[in-house]
Formats: sequence, C-alpha cells, structure tokens
Amino acid sequence: MALYSEKVMDHFRNPRNVGVIEDANGIGEVGNAKCGDIMKMYLKIEDDIVQDVKFETFGCGSAIASSSMATELIKGKPVSEVAQLTNKAVAEALDGLPAYKMHCSVLAEEAIQSALADYYSKKEATAE
Ligand code: FES
Repeated sequence: MALYSEKVMDHFRNPRNVGVIEDANGIGEVGNAKCGDIMKMYLKIEDDIVQDVKFETFGCGSAIASSSMATELIKGKPVSEVAQLTNKAVAEALDGLPAYKMHCSVLAEEAIQSALADYYSKKEATAE
C-alpha cells in the first residue's frame, strides 16, 4: 500500500488557498517544537462566516496537505462549525495519514483554533 493517499499527494503538490490575506481579521500561527514546522492561518470572517482563508506552511508534505484540506473544509462555513473542526476530520478528508504523521494534521486544527481565538479577541476589543 502506498504510504500516502492520492488526496494527500494531490494537496501536497497543488495546495489550495496558499498565501496571505492582507485584511484578515483572524490570524493564527502555531508550531511543533519537535519537528520545527510552522503553520500560519489567515481568516477573513464576515457575518460569522469564513468568507476567505489562506495559509502559509513551512513544513512537511503532510502539514502542507493538512493545511490545504483544512482551508477547503472551512471556507464558506459558519464560525460555530469551524470551531468544531478536528485534526481527525482533516486526516479523514485526506483519506488518512500514517500514524506517525497525525501530528501534522494537529497543526492545522491548532492554527485554525488560534486564528479563531484571534478573531474573537479582536471582536471583543472593538466592541468595548
Ligand atoms: Fe512536523 Fe509534519 S513533520 S508537521
């Protein structure tokens, strides 16, 4: 059996939504201390819907594929739904990751949660 699914290879070779959103209102950056990989997620949220999402990942192929798939899963979705996204859902959408690569999908979950937390803290700050 191939180590990586077709979907992982596809998202690694042709990652979706790579880049920066200049006027993002939620930005999250996370890293894994063990492998040194870093993931940055930009969210543009309007009316509690993720209108746009982009990412920059300095990391392994699984991390790139996970971020790419994660952006596809949350684009156009309400923030309440996005908050529920787990690394397992990302890995499943990729038709699985090898067990020792599951931590790469955790980065995607954490980057999105961190961007959401940033969005909420900015929203609170402007509401004051
Ligand atoms: Fe660290 Fe993949 S090896 S995120």
